[in-house]
Amino acid sequence: MGDAIRLDGKVAVITGGAGGIGAATARLMAGRGAKLVIADIALEAATSVVAELPDAIPIHLDLEVESSIEAMITQTVAHFGRLDILHNNAALLGPDIAQADGDVENMDTALWDRTHAVNVRGTMIACRAALPHLRESRGNIVNTVSNLALQGHLIQAAYSSSKAAIIQMTRAIAASHGIQSVRSNAAAPGMTLTPALKAAFPPALRKAVEDETLRDQLGAPEDIAEAVAFLASDAARNITGQVLVADGGCASHVPGIAQFRTFFSGEHA
Ligand SMILES: NC(=O)c1ccc[n+]([C@@H]2O[C@H](COP(=O)([O-])OP(=O)(O)OC[C@H]3O[C@@H](n4cnc5c(N)ncnc54)[C@H](O)[C@@H]3O)[C@@H](O)[C@H]2O)c1
Repeated sequence: MGDAIRLDGKVAVITGGAGGIGAATARLMAGRGAKLVIADIALEAATSVVAELPDAIPIHLDLEVESSIEAMITQTVAHFGRLDILHNNAALLGPDIAQADGDVENMDTALWDRTHAVNVRGTMIACRAALPHLRESRGNIVNTVSNLALQGHLIQAAYSSSKAAIIQMTRAIAASHGIQSVRSNAAAPGMTLTPALKAAFPPALRKAVEDETLRDQLGAPEDIAEAVAFLASDAARNITGQVLVADGGCASHVPGIAQFRTFFSGEHA
């Protein structure tokens, strides 16, 4: 492993680090030498993740509350003396939320507002609070978005719109702060087999995503962690304002590839 990909001495805040992709990223970053703040609304689960890590603290965070987000950054700097990486990974998720978040014609205004409050407003406030410290450390931001932010779908219009807004915020920050050596990038997972998703996602729809994936398997949380840790590291020093899509190639091709695969394999058999 090249030295540039290491994170020795860096202080990273991971929002939504209590489980799934955030916890996998915390483990990977800790293994590369980072000190971590695991910030989550689920404090007990965040505390369990922290117990596995050599140098980390849990912080209770509610992304719907401005003062809670600002306190996360203040407490980080008070504890570790600096901030190098802000990884905005938390999002409003869960089976009930996903179920209610359909197309625009049937959209519930309260759900739309809450999704954008947690995902977009929350991320903006975290970035705003972190930027003075990132300027000092010549640090960076990595926002978790989604391949749903890049393509239209029947489902999750509020969620996908919020993730698209985060992509544009990522670029705006890169443009404003690049000259101060602050980078800002996004990682876009496709369907990623977290425990929560494995439990809740309908098998027939999972098969549809598998069919459109170019690898022979869906991504794991550790796969997204690799993309995030790379973007956060000095190895990515010339990369800013970008979206790194880590979806096994799902969003990279013309849809219907499974049928084409079957057709051509039949023809050449
Ligand atoms: N798993 C996937 O297939 C997938 C695909 C594309 C994008 N993503 C994105 O990856 C990120 C991580 O998702 P995950 O799949 O690991 O899910 P997850 O549910 O394990 O993680 C989300 C975390 O955010 C926290 N959270 C929710 N609301 C919060 C709030 N108001 N304040 C603070 N914390 C809050 C939750 O407690 C949870 O720990 C999300 O941004 C998600 O949109 C996931």
